[in-house]
Amino acid sequence: MHEEGIMKYIVAILCVLLNISSNSALSEKPNVLFIVIDDLRASLESYGGPIISPYITELASRSALFSNAKVQQSVCAPSRVSFLTGRRPDTTRLYDFGSYWRTHAGNYTTLPQHFKDNGYFTASVGKVFHPGIPSGGNDDYPYSWSIQPYHPSTQHYQGAKVCPNLDGTLHDNVMCPVNVSAMPLQSLPDMQSLEYSSSILKNLSAASHSTNAHGRPDKTSRSPRDPDMQPPFFLAVGFHKPHIPWKYPEEFKSLYPIESISIASNPSRSPTQPAVAYEDYSTLRQRDDINALNMSFPNGTIPLQFHAPMRQSYYAAATYTDFLVGKLLQTLNETGFSNNTIVILFGDHGWQLGEHAEWCKYSNYELATRVPLIVHVPGLTDKPKSSLPNVHQSALKMKDNVGTNADSGMVVTEFVELVDLFPTLSDLAGIEVPPTCPPDPFNVTLCSEGYSFAPLLEANSNAILVGNATKKLTSTRYSRWKNATYSQYPRPGVTPTRETDLPSLKVITVMGYSMRTKDHHYTEWIGFNHTTFTGNWTDVKARELYFNDKDYDQNHNVADDPKFKDIVQELSVQLKMGWRQSLPVPA
Ligand SMILES: *[C@@H]1O[C@H](CO)[C@@H](O)[C@H](O)[C@H]1NC(C)=O
Ligand SMILES: *[C@@H]1O[C@H](CO)[C@@H](O)[C@H](O)[C@H]1NC(C)=O
Ligand SMILES: *[C@@H]1O[C@H](CO)[C@@H](O)[C@H](O)[C@H]1NC(C)=O
Ligand SMILES: *[C@@H]1O[C@H](CO)[C@@H](O)[C@H](O)[C@H]1NC(C)=O
Ligand SMILES: *[C@@H]1O[C@H](CO)[C@@H](O)[C@H](O)[C@H]1NC(C)=O
Ligand SMILES: *[C@@H]1O[C@H](CO)[C@@H](O)[C@H](O)[C@H]1NC(C)=O
Ligand SMILES: *[C@@H]1O[C@H](CO)[C@@H](O)[C@H](O)[C@H]1NC(C)=O
Ligand SMILES: *[C@@H]1O[C@H](CO)[C@@H](O)[C@H](O)[C@H]1NC(C)=O
Ligand SMILES: *[C@@H]1O[C@H](CO)[C@@H](O)[C@H](O)[C@H]1NC(C)=O
Ligand SMILES: *[C@@H]1O[C@H](CO)[C@@H](O)[C@H](O)[C@H]1NC(C)=O
Ligand SMILES: *[C@@H]1O[C@H](CO)[C@@H](O)[C@H](O)[C@H]1NC(C)=O
Ligand SMILES: *[C@@H]1O[C@H](CO)[C@@H](O)[C@H](O)[C@H]1NC(C)=O
Repeated sequence: MHEEGIMKYIVAILCVLLNISSNSALSEKPNVLFIVIDDLRASLESYGGPIISPYITELASRSALFSNAKVQQSVCAPSRVSFLTGRRPDTTRLYDFGSYWRTHAGNYTTLPQHFKDNGYFTASVGKVFHPGIPSGGNDDYPYSWSIQPYHPSTQHYQGAKVCPNLDGTLHDNVMCPVNVSAMPLQSLPDMQSLEYSSSILKNLSAASHSTNAHGRPDKTSRSPRDPDMQPPFFLAVGFHKPHIPWKYPEEFKSLYPIESISIASNPSRSPTQPAVAYEDYSTLRQRDDINALNMSFPNGTIPLQFHAPMRQSYYAAATYTDFLVGKLLQTLNETGFSNNTIVILFGDHGWQLGEHAEWCKYSNYELATRVPLIVHVPGLTDKPKSSLPNVHQSALKMKDNVGTNADSGMVVTEFVELVDLFPTLSDLAGIEVPPTCPPDPFNVTLCSEGYSFAPLLEANSNAILVGNATKKLTSTRYSRWKNATYSQYPRPGVTPTRETDLPSLKVITVMGYSMRTKDHHYTEWIGFNHTTFTGNWTDVKARELYFNDKDYDQNHNVADDPKFKDIVQELSVQLKMGWRQSLPVPA
């Protein structure tokens, strides 16, 4: 053969080989369905809580349920930018709603962007990034997403006066059960998001069937409508409820007879709570039904007789979301994707429902920083189940089954943080795991301040990963897991003002750095310079120390008790050393 002929021959062979390998890589790569639920605290029934949630319980029964998952800052935009970039707030430099990390902190690669860069089709439906300035005005499109992010049009009516009072007049109440047929477009935002995400799944499924017919997938095309396309997908769906207002289909209210609802056992402020730790839930106070209570600011509290109705609304809105999650998972099944799709479901932060006379998030308390986190990895977390509930029934009918299906799959009690999601999902999907960020991470585009918790799934399972009987996770084994989680919350000062809950960067002068270890929950509120983004550890405004066992509800701050001086000293050292010192120790 001539040299030219040989070259052509080699090129032809290479093409065949490359095609084969890219084909098998595609078919081996699992899809990801990433479900984030706004303001969902860990009170689902699979967490032993009162929120009726049969569909999530069913998911949990074949998943790993994390009982100690924590967020990095308990408010939407900072938490979401943190878990979507895999970095902590001091690195995203987003503590408020006022900046876009790419121009403000560093041009960091995001979790969905990393999947996109690795050949995935990525799509965002509903509230995934916090919309607006914190995600560059367009949910970080086109960097993170293959197609334009979708927002439900009825979210436009978020503040509309559509909630009927007893006398029939309409208000912008926080407690807002509605007749959906009477709503604008006869729909609600999360219903529209469900429809849109189901449509994406159906189109991807149709495309994959036509790909099988035509044979050859084309990795470069990115549209779900393209019949020749079959890259794996990363579909992120962000549900708005149970964020306030609790506007939900009124049928869900009857699941929670008011007399069946217990209120918090600790509904008063603790005298040991430092003033800087108090948040005054201003966003709640502005709503018509709360405003009508004429509470004084900032110390006036919501009268006890309203605690049960408030909980009723929060629970009902969360059950409504569970119902939508069920529909989404049903579509995942019907489109044939479920046995090759990792499903991850979690809350972006917790919520206080009257404990310590507090509402909302905006704090470092366990209730605000702990979230539900459930991860289903086909073949890895499944356990054979003899009797699965019939998930095709309506949510209302499902009520009778509650309690019979509380059989959780794998329960993982080790500490994990939402900042771990980026490395973990990369690990589970078999794409490059971002390395741990160096101490000065601002110019490093791909790194993470989390740690892959995939080894915890492996440690808890004898099963193997989907699609490859010999595949082992790439992450390092560990001899000791992460021994603390870290969160933080900013304040404009040490006494409550209208800006306490959501201080904008330019007024932040105090940062509460908080750490939870096996035995303690410890917080230091220190001076903070919002120009240099640094805390001043010699300028301590207040400390909080709670014992997890004796005082799970965090009613007794004992930081100033001389008896515990040594413990405070020890925890203070570890808090200052930060997350890096608490990472798992490799075997
Ligand atoms: C940020 O990174 C993206 C790729 O991830 C690149 O396309 C973009 O130009 C970068 N922006 C800046 C301001 O450097
Ligand atoms: C809901 O609203 C629709 C349209 O206004 C009305 O026809 C229907 O009777 C209402 N249903 C209930 C239960 O009030
Ligand atoms: C799915 O495909 C249909 C038919 O082509 C199209 O009308 C619809 O917009 C697609 N859905 C999405 C979410 O792209
Ligand atoms: C709140 O103040 C308004 C106007 O003064 C009054 O009409 C109303 O009865 C008060 N509500 C309560 C719950 O005290
Ligand atoms: C609110 O309560 C704090 C702590 O108990 C107290 O220091 C402050 O003076 C009170 N503020 C008002 C306006 O009553
Ligand atoms: C989806 O399929 C799984 C596995 O077969 C099953 O356990 C689950 O009940 C189905 N979920 C829905 C919502 O249909
Ligand atoms: C990061 O990059 C910028 C712009 O290239 C440069 O001015 C700065 O010194 C770099 N910082 C570090 C810590 O490398
Ligand atoms: C998923 O299920 C389909 C149909 O039952 C089967 O053909 C396929 O091999 C399964 N895929 C995996 C990765 O288990
Ligand atoms: C499974 O993964 C291992 C290790 O990555 C690889 O050597 C092997 O070829 C894979 N097997 C199949 C069937 O893809
Ligand atoms: C914050 O740091 C800047 C830069 O070092 C300095 O100019 C400023 O005075 C500091 N602010 C406070 C309140 O200490
Ligand atoms: C840190 O706080 C201490 C105590 O308030 C103060 O003396 C010192 O100047 C502060 N340091 C900086 C860099 O602001
Ligand atoms: C966690 O590990 C670090 C590093 O080994 C150690 O300094 C710290 O004391 C440990 N903390 C707890 C609470 O075990």
